[in-house]
Amino acid sequence: MMAALMGRLSGRAILKAPNCLTSQKANLSFRTLSKGKKIAAGVAGAAAAGAVALQTAVFARELELHPPSFPWSYKGIFDSYDHASVRRGYQVYKQVCAACHTMDYMYYRNLVGVIMTEDQAKAEAAEIDVLDGPDDEGKMFNRPGKLSDRFPQPYANEEAAKVANMGAFPPDLTFIINAREGGADYIFSLLTGYWDRPAGCEEREGLHYNPYFAGGYIAMAQALYNEAVEFDDGTPATSSQMAKDVTTFLAWAAEPEMDERKRMGIKTMIVLGILLFFSFYYKRVKWLPMKTKKIAYKPRKH
Ligand code: HEC
Repeated sequence: MMAALMGRLSGRAILKAPNCLTSQKANLSFRTLSKGKKIAAGVAGAAAAGAVALQTAVFARELELHPPSFPWSYKGIFDSYDHASVRRGYQVYKQVCAACHTMDYMYYRNLVGVIMTEDQAKAEAAEIDVLDGPDDEGKMFNRPGKLSDRFPQPYANEEAAKVANMGAFPPDLTFIINAREGGADYIFSLLTGYWDRPAGCEEREGLHYNPYFAGGYIAMAQALYNEAVEFDDGTPATSSQMAKDVTTFLAWAAEPEMDERKRMGIKTMIVLGILLFFSFYYKRVKWLPMKTKKIAYKPRKH
């Protein structure tokens, strides 16, 4: 096909030549073409490259939606987490997400002082059964959870989790906010992004349409529906409210030290600001006269 194209570009002569192959070989060199033909060949090449690029780049279903930027309560440098929201988010995680997702790096003691009091956290931990042991007789046994225990595992192991979810593994959620591009904005959009499939997107076995997930189909079904949980503080449990709260909770889980870090940062800047003032003053008062002092040597007259 290329040869035909080049042949047409470089004129009839080639096609009419008695020995087509050899003369084609001789004439195909770019240098031997006239200026106009060189330009034509260049344009054709660029058009072909463009066509190839278009061919591979655009498939509507491969475009994923980028999450918008939401005004999270903890975003600014002077902002702390909305702790009421963190508390509600823990309730959502415990009652909905914990059925499939682990939070392996969260211990019940982490809840103390943030989400509940120490006594409440102890009671919360005691609700779960933890496999412990071996005891004096070498047997494993179940005991109620303690503050030093992790959040419970919904599945015995990774393989069991995959089998229960049609081959997809529900990732650990402790650091998921930091582990995904877009962080909290992405998680919130994902949780609220279960829409009807647009025309042209076919149904896929065991997958759910969600334009925020890479590829547009996710193995996790929509988890949050209105009234899925009942908040202790009486906040109406709409699906977007729960998505916001659980995302704030996950942000706290990923960076529990954020409030303290920001507070230390502000203190540090204030102290450094004061020191800067004194050092500036000191420089003007002490250093400037020294720097501008002129020391001249005057030999004594004999
Ligand atoms: C019925 C089980 C189930 C429940 C309940 C569930 N998930 Fe999932 N989740 C999954 C599975 C399975 C995947 C893996 C999806 C995939 O890879 O296609 C997943 C993936 C995710 C991901 C990762 C998406 C990514 O970018 O890789 C996040 C975040 C997530 N879930 C958050 C949540 C939150 C928050 C809740 C609670 C509101 C929740 N899930 C409830 C099964 C569940």
